[in-house]
Amino acid sequence: MSTGNVRPESMERITTPALAKKFIDEQIQELRAQIGDKKVLLALSGGVDSSVVAALLIKAVGQQLVSVHVNHGLLRKGEPEQVVRVFRDEMNANLIYVDAVDRFLDKLAGVADPEQKRKIIGAEFIRVFEEEARKLEGISFLAQGTIYPDIVESGPVKSHHNVGGLPEDMQFELVEPIKLLFKDEVRVVGKELGLPDNMVFRQPFPGPGLGVRCTGAITRDRLEALRESDAILREEFAKNGLEGKVWQYFTVVPDYKSTGVKDNKRSWDWPVIIRAVNTRDAMTATIEEIPYPLLHHITQRIITEVPGVNRVLYDLTPKPTGTIEWE
Ligand code: XMP
Repeated sequence: MSTGNVRPESMERITTPALAKKFIDEQIQELRAQIGDKKVLLALSGGVDSSVVAALLIKAVGQQLVSVHVNHGLLRKGEPEQVVRVFRDEMNANLIYVDAVDRFLDKLAGVADPEQKRKIIGAEFIRVFEEEARKLEGISFLAQGTIYPDIVESGPVKSHHNVGGLPEDMQFELVEPIKLLFKDEVRVVGKELGLPDNMVFRQPFPGPGLGVRCTGAITRDRLEALRESDAILREEFAKNGLEGKVWQYFTVVPDYKSTGVKDNKRSWDWPVIIRAVNTRDAMTATIEEIPYPLLHHITQRIITEVPGVNRVLYDLTPKPTGTIEWE
């Protein structure tokens, strides 16, 4: 906000609920002063940063915030529903939910090149958001969940859904209330704002979402196998105390099949690959040692519950040589 882009050395690290409350109170005053009676637009993905910005703005200016949640079909199981439940139902936010699933999947059909996939997802996101923004009247500000590491480093983690690519006639004044905070501080603030734990403490999730884990050309049935297997993995990690302990864990469904046998018949189905890694900065990563009994249990669940899958593999590759994501 008005404080510029450099974190003052005197700025206390937000580590406690009391410090978070102080930050929230100050931001509410500043946001009200900046925004007045005007309207603010926010692309709300449901990730921790945009969720914290939404919750702050709802407290500060209520219905003057217009949040747009674009469901591009590449979110994890339950995520779009949770955004609607938390922000529209519980916080009474002015939320526009855009079901753009078909649009994205149609654009991505047959596209196998990873960079091309990323480009399509990014460009389509901006297009959908722009269309929604054009339907609205009297928007003066664009809120963004920029955080301090986004400003000071251009590391490997890119905030893919920052809507910096809007056309020139749609350049709004920016509202960036958490731009001087580090990720751990954003989480403390989010908790104090009353956001659910699974939103505040969630693992990093790439902007192109499940798109980079459904390798090659995305198909709807394989994407569904990915979403379901990922949900099983997350559920089992939560039940077994690994959530919050492991940096990133997910499944990948590659675009090839292998022979198997199911119900006394030969099958020709996909494998699901489990990846669980620990890292400090995402530049290098080590493998989380998932206990074997748990791996067996997760495997059993995936091969019995997820249609189209006949094998489960465990990726033991550190970074380097493997990147965290498969694409
Ligand atoms: P890699 O796969 O390069 O990933 O080892 C490092 C970290 O960055 C995340 N990642 C992305 N995040 N857009 C994002 O917002 C992307 O295109 C993207 N690709 C990778 C990855 O999940 C990991 O945390």
